[in-house]
Amino acid sequence: MNKYSEIISSIEESKTMAISSLVKKLKAEGKNVLSFSAGEPDFPTPEFIKQAAIKAINNNFTKYTPNEGYPPLINAIIEKFSIDNNLEFKPQNILVSHGAKHSLYNLLMSICNPGDEVIFQAPYWVSYPQMVKLAQAKSVIINAGVEQNYKITPGQLKNSITSKTKVFLFNTPSNPTGSVYSEDEIKALAEVLKEKNIFIISDEIYEKIVFDDEKHFSIGSIDYLKDKTITVNGVSKAYAMTGWRVGYAGGNAEIIKLARNLQSHSTSNASSISQAATLAALTEESNEIEDMVKKFKIRRDYIYDALNKIEGIKCPLPKGAFYVFYNVSNYYGKHMNGYDIKDSSSFCNYLLTEQNVGLVPGIAFGNDNCVRMSYACSLEELRDGVERITNALHKLK
Ligand SMILES: Cc1ncc(COP(=O)(O)O)c(C=O)c1O
Repeated sequence: MNKYSEIISSIEESKTMAISSLVKKLKAEGKNVLSFSAGEPDFPTPEFIKQAAIKAINNNFTKYTPNEGYPPLINAIIEKFSIDNNLEFKPQNILVSHGAKHSLYNLLMSICNPGDEVIFQAPYWVSYPQMVKLAQAKSVIINAGVEQNYKITPGQLKNSITSKTKVFLFNTPSNPTGSVYSEDEIKALAEVLKEKNIFIISDEIYEKIVFDDEKHFSIGSIDYLKDKTITVNGVSKAYAMTGWRVGYAGGNAEIIKLARNLQSHSTSNASSISQAATLAALTEESNEIEDMVKKFKIRRDYIYDALNKIEGIKCPLPKGAFYVFYNVSNYYGKHMNGYDIKDSSSFCNYLLTEQNVGLVPGIAFGNDNCVRMSYACSLEELRDGVERITNALHKLK
């Protein structure tokens, strides 16, 4: 018998965070490590947002705010959802949390009962299966390989629904694949969910980072799904504010009420200062997002071309977020100096120890044939990384 909590003991350590810690350790030992494991923009938080936080501190905006969020911020979120996402909310539909991750956790805990099923796709964001476990629910995972652009089909969704399905957890643009579902694709999935008693949690944290002519579309804006969908977003990725820890959710007031209650007894309000900064991010005019997306696109174009020139690698073109997710299984079965490449973890270990290059094994996202490489870094680092990866792969026999 485990003497500690069985549920918490069963939760796996975040593999992305584990890689980041290992990279930090190697760097501290003086190794010239190039890490492409970061899940955050490399840009600093825009100046006007930092100034808003400084002003908040100077004005002593340093006390508790209402648990569910600072009212002017809630109003700004309502306006954002209306303008960007065609979602109409009232204050009772909104919850401000400590990051989108926290909103997602609060929602899953508030909706699920033991044994309920939560459907989501692989490749998935690392935290989904663990959060579902924490909610004592069961993950039902739909495999979406590169041959289908890492996107599930309506038929797959239909086949995965059972009488126990409680939630469809949806993420577009996707971490780790960078794929973006089109409006038509989302409407086709929505048709499957029509008249079903299934809640939808839509994780739209990468909404602003889309390329080419892709347009983000919110599943919750489809008329017949409005009352069943809770849309989650935040400022981490769009405004380079990962450390500020502000995310938010908008949707069904009954669920939001439960999630607010859970939050009130666990963490209370998100930091008052971070909420003031978020208010500035959402309400002040600026070109910072556009500039950042332009830079990400230049890097995406570079890394896509460069990786596809390496023999044995086929990298699909991501349409959003800041990751490439590509198949490296052509190298499985190869060896070098005692390294046996047999899966995504041994592949990444080899690159890290042999060439000081940090990638995240695809197994962390439910696909052991692939690796994830973040391009939230400079072009110089990307060039250096591609050279190191090429060298390391050439050595494999
Ligand atoms: C798909 C996805 N959802 C949610 C989050 C959580 O973002 P945050 O808690 O920083 O707002 C992340 C962060 O990496 C993510 O990739």
